[in-house]
Amino acid sequence: MKQLQDYLTDLAGRGMLRTLREIESAQGPRVQIDGRDYLLLCSNNYLGLADHPALIEASCKATRDFGVGSGASRLISGSMSLHHQLEERIAQFKETEAALVYNTGYAANNGIIQGLLGPDDTVFSDSLNHASIIDGCRLSGARIVIYPHNDMVALEQLLQQETEQRSGRWLIVTDGVFSMDGDVAALPELVMLKQRYDAWLMVDDAHGGGVLGAIGRGTAEHFGCLDQVDLQMGTFGKAFGSFGAYLAARREVIDTLINRSRSFIFSTSLPPGVLAANVAAVDLVASEEGVRRRTQLEANRQLFSQILTEEGFDLCGSSTQIVPVLMGDPEPTMRAAAELFSRGIFLSGIRPPTVAPGTCRLRATLMADHTPTEVRHAAQLLIEVVREEMARA
Ligand SMILES: Cc1ncc(COP(=O)(O)O)c(C=O)c1O
Repeated sequence: MKQLQDYLTDLAGRGMLRTLREIESAQGPRVQIDGRDYLLLCSNNYLGLADHPALIEASCKATRDFGVGSGASRLISGSMSLHHQLEERIAQFKETEAALVYNTGYAANNGIIQGLLGPDDTVFSDSLNHASIIDGCRLSGARIVIYPHNDMVALEQLLQQETEQRSGRWLIVTDGVFSMDGDVAALPELVMLKQRYDAWLMVDDAHGGGVLGAIGRGTAEHFGCLDQVDLQMGTFGKAFGSFGAYLAARREVIDTLINRSRSFIFSTSLPPGVLAANVAAVDLVASEEGVRRRTQLEANRQLFSQILTEEGFDLCGSSTQIVPVLMGDPEPTMRAAAELFSRGIFLSGIRPPTVAPGTCRLRATLMADHTPTEVRHAAQLLIEVVREEMARA
């Protein structure tokens, strides 16, 4: 225990200690913390669906009809009609033969990559991919080749180099929208490379799903290449306002994962209330209301980014609702986040290992139901606080 205490003290001394902030209200554009009202600028509830009446009603009804728990993993006795209904809805939404629901995005990325690749295979992974992809690659035992972020020239060189020793399957895997930078994967080029080198392409669209594309089908819809992404992974916990994740793919991929994917096989399945909320969320995302919410989110994003760029801020190539402001070291980052909090804005500072050392940042995320006044206010305060912090340096 003393060792652990020393470890925690050391983290705190370096501005690296993580602690939990208790939120006393729903994940709306404003939240209550310690009885005080804060503007929430770090939630992934991008479309504001987390407390939407349609999701709440669907969840309550399913809970009343089918109970609270699913009782087991899917392969034992927990494969309920609602799992199948959700998978059919996702496959239809993504225009694939089939889909498989996972308990979380973390479990999905672990289980998909582990379930499809083995030691004879090679995975090409973007250097800024999410931790759950990195862990899935490691778990699979496949040879891992990391390519520089979104660098298609470098990726092609690596694919060429690897050709000589090629064996097994090749998988290129990328975030659709990068979670800490808010930029978008170069999907058209990735599709070209996957075709040229006969590789599979997997896109983790945790942050693009619901947000990008005319009906919210994500990054691949945005680029018009839905049918070229072999493995379309997405989550329900962000723009879809609920919880859980999925893979949409060909039937044989899904059937293989049902037989091999450890995070799918060895875990109690999602409960009825969550499954029903997810079906309602997909319906909403694809509806007129979904379009309206995406339009509002995009207007908020543009307003926020424009104010910051006009003031000379470098937004690291962000073109989405995730807007990073680079700070560098942990201490100034966390001081700035604390200062914003004291002024009524809840926005997280991001530190290693989530991002590389020296690239700590304030990561703002916009929501569809922030008002333009709130967006302007948040941008102005952010500018003020970051400038004050720079002046200290
Ligand atoms: C890109 C990306 N993939 C996967 C995940 C994991 O999803 P979940 O929160 O559902 O476990 C996250 C989430 O936080 C993410 O940002």
